[in-house]
Amino acid sequence: MYDGFFRKIEYLRLSITDRCNFFCRYCREKNACKLESKELSKDEIFKIISVFKKLGIKKLRLTGGEPFLRDDIFEIIEYASSIGIKNINVTTNGYLDDEKIAKILKSSLLSINISLDTLNNQRYRVLTGLDVLDKVKSAIKSLSEYKKVKINTVLLRSTNFDEIEDLILFAKENNAIIRFIELMPIGVANRIFDNEFVSIEEVLKRFRKYYEVDVNRNSVAKYYYIEDFDHVAGFINAVSGHFCERCDRVRVSAEGILYNCLFDKTGLDLKEYLTDEDVLEEKVQEFIKKKKFTRNQSTDSMMFRIGG
Ligand code: GTP
Ligand code: 5AD
Ligand code: SF4
Repeated sequence: MYDGFFRKIEYLRLSITDRCNFFCRYCREKNACKLESKELSKDEIFKIISVFKKLGIKKLRLTGGEPFLRDDIFEIIEYASSIGIKNINVTTNGYLDDEKIAKILKSSLLSINISLDTLNNQRYRVLTGLDVLDKVKSAIKSLSEYKKVKINTVLLRSTNFDEIEDLILFAKENNAIIRFIELMPIGVANRIFDNEFVSIEEVLKRFRKYYEVDVNRNSVAKYYYIEDFDHVAGFINAVSGHFCERCDRVRVSAEGILYNCLFDKTGLDLKEYLTDEDVLEEKVQEFIKKKKFTRNQSTDSMMFRIGG
């Protein structure tokens, strides 16, 4: 499926819940629970995945909130796999019990992206609201033995600017790739943005030698082999750069709204068309044709609802 600028749209980011057990300072406030929307049912999600598959989606990422708070996530993964989607991934905060880890290892998931912003217990607790760093580290260890794991680190001056080297070494130890993400001025992050923002440029200056490696042209991350660590790390310049020319993605929020871009304010409510898959297909196609070059903007959207 192509948009109006002949960009091939092959990647669907589907938020399956806006619930989350964490309260990351840059994403979700304690009182945000009241803002939870009515999430899509499993059958509604199946319909949406089926229609996007017909429209040519090759890569699916389940996001949230915290997607593993839904018990039917494994049924959703296996449904997507059963209709021929091979590239199925998930983005999680990594607070997973042993039963969930075992299920992930048996599932058709190709890769797991896990948020980890600090290796310091006290800082982790202040940032996320939960004292569970050791559990998340051990989930990364267990999962990365058998599946591809990427670590997502949002750069925050007060929390991890002095830990960049340690975080790369932790990723290396666990055979995982770490990606440093520029803090985006979205929702509650607007309030801390001026004090906390660190640019990718500032981080790269710390390394002696690094070379760009081409891992995936459409990825929002640029990957560099960093000679200092003999390891590859990714950098997502979500603020100082933008990915519009090569954007291959659309997103569906937890309540079933299709957005052409993370920064768009209006979307298409898919729930209105779920009774007829042909109409749904037509409406989606029509809407994606209107995908623009929105570029990065400061917005009041909620990351945990739109799915990051
Ligand atoms: P891969 O498929 O592993 O490359 O993952 P991904 O980077 O697509 O997904 P992930 O959920 O791990 O997101 C990593 C970071 O990229 C998050 O901070 C997202 O909010 C950000 N991000 C994802 N999509 C977009 C986008 O279209 N535009 C911008 N500016 N940022 C995005
Ligand atoms: N800026 C950058 N990244 C963010 N994430 C959540 N909020 C923001 C923000 N304001 C990240 C999470 C997770 C990914 C899905 O999005 O840390 O890794
Ligand atoms: Fe939850 Fe992820 Fe938002 Fe943290 S960044 S509050 S883990 S949705």
